[in-house]
Amino acid sequence: MTTNFADYFLLQEGLTFLNHGSFGSCPKPVFQNYQDWQLRLENQPVAFLDQERDLITNLSKPREALAKEFNTSAQNLVRVTNATTGLNAIARSIALAEGDEILTTDHEYAAVENTWEFLVRKVGAKIVRAQVTLPLASEDVFFEDLVSQMSKRTKILLLSHITSPTALRFPIKRVIDEARKRGIITVIDGAHAPGLIDLDLDALGADFYVGNCHKWLLAPKGAGFLWAHPNWHQKLEPLVISHGWNVKDRKEDRTAFLDSFEIQGTQDPSAWLAVPAALEFRKTHNWAEVSKACNQRAQELAQRVAAFTKLPSLSTPEFCAPQMVAMPVPKTDPRKLKAFLLNERKVEIPVFSWQDQTIVRVSIAAYNSQKDADNLLAALQIYFADSTSNTR
Ligand SMILES: Cc1ncc(COP(=O)(O)O)c(C=O)c1O
Repeated sequence: MTTNFADYFLLQEGLTFLNHGSFGSCPKPVFQNYQDWQLRLENQPVAFLDQERDLITNLSKPREALAKEFNTSAQNLVRVTNATTGLNAIARSIALAEGDEILTTDHEYAAVENTWEFLVRKVGAKIVRAQVTLPLASEDVFFEDLVSQMSKRTKILLLSHITSPTALRFPIKRVIDEARKRGIITVIDGAHAPGLIDLDLDALGADFYVGNCHKWLLAPKGAGFLWAHPNWHQKLEPLVISHGWNVKDRKEDRTAFLDSFEIQGTQDPSAWLAVPAALEFRKTHNWAEVSKACNQRAQELAQRVAAFTKLPSLSTPEFCAPQMVAMPVPKTDPRKLKAFLLNERKVEIPVFSWQDQTIVRVSIAAYNSQKDADNLLAALQIYFADSTSNTR
């Protein structure tokens, strides 16, 4: 990487920021575009927010750009504020009954598990968590891990495309195909995937796919999408019922699906409107190459950390998410390690317990330098050298 990408971002000086995966920073030109939209809104609020004037045309452009990027029709996806909102709309739209099972894995995002847990408790349905064999090294084994847990009661298959606690790229295509054959509804949580891995939404063939644009796609916070297979457009219920639910004289290129999700009361859609600027920024800077270099740096760092901890990795490189690695470290109180890294070494990074292991999840984004990687390694070495001498 020859360009100093750190100059494009607004991150605090002196901080080793290694947590793009949770909340990434948005490049200055994209942030400028976001603010330009906000200024336009304030300049003529009625023209901006009136669905008979600029709103629908403006809202359609990011939808069309994302559809092109991820190989689908712009009629199949709608704007949502974040992946959580999209997944909630899906969960609320599927009628669950007593005895139904939702098959998922033991690597899912806690807040998403809450969404489903909330609903299964109401009706006496159940969440079944398939244990994914680790290290993840084979698509066949992953497939068996899931298929062996499918039964006549399995109503929904809920899978992360890229997992949050373990930063794995699940090989989901074959399992989706199998679920479809068995009449199981597939819901893919792609919160991390857009901008991080190649995404072909039509070819993937799920029933639902939810993605964030405010992580690796580099859009401002509050921009995500919900993709639904055309079979579901009529059945999907928005979480908020507003003007869009009952549009009289609907224009030819509009559907109830688009209107009911796009028009949900007064909102500032500027983050969504800045999505084309984020796509443009990535294109201008040849992002595939940038991403490759970041991934190499992430993998090298993971190898150096593993050489020091002597702990096995969670997957082979093939199934590790690009630019993100969840690294097991010797067992310690995650809050103490996190506080040490942040307060004493100025390293912002998630540290948590997962399945009885302490995990440090590193994200390498375009703004991260080799020095950032070195800082983390040095900090871990100091912490664990001290902790083995029982000072922590
Ligand atoms: C796998 C996964 N799903 C869902 C989410 C929720 O995303 P958001 O907070 O943007 O709704 C996250 C957030 O990091 C995630 O990692």
